[in-house]
Amino acid sequence: MNRITKAVFPVAGLGTRFLPATKASPKEMMPIVDKPLIQFAVEEAVASGITDLIFITGRGKRAIEDHFDKAYELENELMLRGKSDMIAALRDILPKQVNCIFIRQTEALGLGHAVLCAKPAIVNEPFAVLLADDLLDAGTPVIQQMIEVYNYYNCSVLGVQDVPREDTRSYGIVAAKPLTERVEKVDAIVEKPNPDVAPSTLAVVGRYVLTPRIFHYLENAKPGSGGEIQLTDAISALLNEQQVLAYRYQGVRYDCGSKLGYLQATVEFGQRHPEVGKEFAEYLAGRDALKTN
Ligand code: UTP
Repeated sequence: MNRITKAVFPVAGLGTRFLPATKASPKEMMPIVDKPLIQFAVEEAVASGITDLIFITGRGKRAIEDHFDKAYELENELMLRGKSDMIAALRDILPKQVNCIFIRQTEALGLGHAVLCAKPAIVNEPFAVLLADDLLDAGTPVIQQMIEVYNYYNCSVLGVQDVPREDTRSYGIVAAKPLTERVEKVDAIVEKPNPDVAPSTLAVVGRYVLTPRIFHYLENAKPGSGGEIQLTDAISALLNEQQVLAYRYQGVRYDCGSKLGYLQATVEFGQRHPEVGKEFAEYLAGRDALKTN
């Protein structure tokens, strides 16, 4: 069995829900207090044993490459000003043993197409996919939990959570049978079904462990509306050949691709921030007190 060492970060989406903020800078660089979303996802992967980070980038995403590159001029400037703690914060962005690979998705042809763009960097081995706009707050990193499930069952694993039925039209939804408390065997997957026809309320979130066979189905997937290639369609085809599991991860998810989720994450992480958390929590409590007076 292959050890999972590679993770794909599709960061080539247009981020239309955050326009105009995302007109010239990537959605994945939006910070929760002072850390960009993409750095949360990278830290989750690295803490889970991933050593090769494959970013699928698009136009206007240079900031992501620069973020994970060494910033000589900035480090020199901070050195001159005696700000060694800041230099350490910059150097801690990526551990030395980690490699970054950047692949350009020249057109935003969907998540499935973005994952397919990673194929040249993945040699017939299973790999992880992390969508940085799903920020997952967990004791054991969620992708590590899923890699453990992969290591046990040796097949693709989709991160899932229950959602309110009226929200099924925003997610890939699975029909699945429980195997254990958290692991279910997927029988079918449908992209964004209407609530009245959704096979369940178990929604796929932005974490996947996939076998390399997925590339075969991505290559043969028919583009849907807007010419997009859906990852869900390829997973649906993969199901006919290989077992696919759904895993109810342990942790809290913030949908930072939506404004509300982004604000919720900011409030939660803001209150835990080592520098300003205490004051921010006091500020929020004070506002609540004002409202009840
Ligand atoms: P979303 O569906 O959230 O789309 O993509 P988006 O373009 O990022 O954002 P909105 O909906 O317009 O606001 C899910 C993930 O897939 C990536 C995105 O970067 C995001 O992480 N993606 C999507 C690509 O890398 N390429 C694509 O062609 C589409």
